[in-house]
Amino acid sequence: MGLNSPGNRQASQPADNLPAHPNDPLRNDVYRRPLETALGRLGVASGWRCADVGAGSGDVSIALAKIVGKSGRIYSVDIDPLARDEVASRAATFSQVVAITQAGEDLLLPEPVDLAFCRFLLMHVHDQAAVIRRMALATKPGGFVVMQEPITSAGRIDGTVFSMEGALYPDIGALLPSLTRQAGLELIDCWAESQAWSGEGIVSSYLEHLTGVNPGDSPVVLPPLVTAIGRVGDMTGSKILPSSPTEW
Ligand SMILES: C[S@@+](CC[C@H](N)C(=O)[O-])C[C@H]1O[C@@H](n2cnc3c(N)ncnc32)[C@H](O)[C@@H]1O
Repeated sequence: MGLNSPGNRQASQPADNLPAHPNDPLRNDVYRRPLETALGRLGVASGWRCADVGAGSGDVSIALAKIVGKSGRIYSVDIDPLARDEVASRAATFSQVVAITQAGEDLLLPEPVDLAFCRFLLMHVHDQAAVIRRMALATKPGGFVVMQEPITSAGRIDGTVFSMEGALYPDIGALLPSLTRQAGLELIDCWAESQAWSGEGIVSSYLEHLTGVNPGDSPVVLPPLVTAIGRVGDMTGSKILPSSPTEW
């Protein structure tokens, strides 16, 4: 049973048969569990309007497109025009997917959505509050903003702490509950999930794919992904274009 579904819609469907991305064939398997937990918890269903912000190659956008069907709409947003092209190509048979080149900080969609979602985005942006606020403003009252971000340093390889070069905020997941509330959202639920393994399997294969090194039989705990679900209230008093992030 999902959370309070916006509107009177059908029950959620599992995001089955998600097509693997040719350059990242394992990602869906490793991170699919928290994605399915979140979408099932929400009760995402046929006809929903959703935004996938920082969509990358579109794994989440396509999973959502399968659930919302042709009567729904997925705005797949990324700052990188190459990501837009990739999603447009991968989602060629999903007319419900609209791929857009736009920064999350400037998010502006043609219609209010039921769900604004991001995964592995906030760890790469300077002003998370601005992005979350924009996601909230893009969402209709009663709809949801859902964020999935890692606590990288909580992961372990053979007992050693994970690190991620190049990410601005690799542990941003640890701050999601307060970021959600600071954005004026009602914090509905928040949890962390990861996979742990030793030996052959998708966890070690994924790690090898990421780092080029196979962990062998060393125990691996992947960085937990924190999911925060915020419900949007009445945002009519909110400022859409603040002069500085500190005013939010
Ligand atoms: C690690 S990928 C995550 C892709 C996807 N969300 C997933 O979970 O598979 C991060 C994506 O965020 C995009 N991105 C980075 N900064 C952004 C911003 N300020 N606004 C929108 N997209 C951004 C990048 O171009 C990249 O495609």
